[in-house]
Amino acid sequence: MKKMGVLTSGGDSPGMNAAVRAVVRKAIYHNIEVYGVYQGYAGLMSGQIKKLELGSVGDIIHRGGTMLYTARCEEFKTNEGQIQGISQLKKFGIEGLVVIGGDGSYRGAKKLTEHGFPCVGVPGTIDNDIPGTDFTIGFDTALNTVIDAVDKIRDTATSHERTYIIEVMGRHAGDLALWSGLAGGAETILIPEADYDMNDVIARLNRGHDRGKKHSIIIVAEGVGSGVDFAKKIKDVTQFETRVSVLGHIQRGGSPTAFDRVLASRLGARAVELLIEGKGGRAVGIENNKLVDHDILEILDRPHTIEQDMYKLSTELSI
Ligand code: F6P
Repeated sequence: MKKMGVLTSGGDSPGMNAAVRAVVRKAIYHNIEVYGVYQGYAGLMSGQIKKLELGSVGDIIHRGGTMLYTARCEEFKTNEGQIQGISQLKKFGIEGLVVIGGDGSYRGAKKLTEHGFPCVGVPGTIDNDIPGTDFTIGFDTALNTVIDAVDKIRDTATSHERTYIIEVMGRHAGDLALWSGLAGGAETILIPEADYDMNDVIARLNRGHDRGKKHSIIIVAEGVGSGVDFAKKIKDVTQFETRVSVLGHIQRGGSPTAFDRVLASRLGARAVELLIEGKGGRAVGIENNKLVDHDILEILDRPHTIEQDMYKLSTELSI
């Protein structure tokens, strides 16, 4: 392999830049030319492709967002879009592509692989919802952003003796809610992976209230539904004073944590190694702190799971 490309796609996540840097530097270390594909699959189709040098990725390891920009691209879901993307890569003589992103990005990489173009997926999303890896790049930073918000909301919740409902991102996955709920000492955590009974939630609030606890924090994963609707239900039944915070896109920004920078560096570099070894069609990940790779054609068929033990623990600690 003489030339490879790298792109970021879908929702950005803190640490994507560190992953791009690792891809570029590792490839150049092995005397391979690297091309940045700008604006994700949309830029791939329109040929937004530029050669990257060592200096192109200087001073970005600590920056959130992605220097390659990103996009969500409906057109790339079509056969024609994918063929057009491959022809753009071929124009530049690019023989393999590293795709950094989440679920939608992996689906694109899977299609390119099915068309015979070697791709390696690197999991970059705050949702932590990609199977075959314990952690995705950006999850840890987003988690810390949520925790910072929860701690601050707790201060005002205590002062005003209010019940706070905090809605966090995660798409269909409850990881951000579960981890932030456990780390933030939330009274209740609602995630898509576990059924909940509204009567239990109310009973828990009432028990706390009866023993003199006048404020509560409830974390709702967006995959469960709207935090605003949930707050209304609680208010209607309990009459407790409630407030809602939808944390939104603040969770996607900020300087990546050391954990995310290291993870991104390791995964990005491993993706390059796989392409050099002629092993396209893989998705890299980390399991038990060891780098792993799986078949990108089947990885998304696996169900996303959460640590059930952690969920159980969260209910035990918030009786
Ligand atoms: O996948 C990352 C994510 O932030 C999800 O948590 C969220 O549901 C979605 O993207 C929001 O997408 P957009 O930035 O397009 O509004």
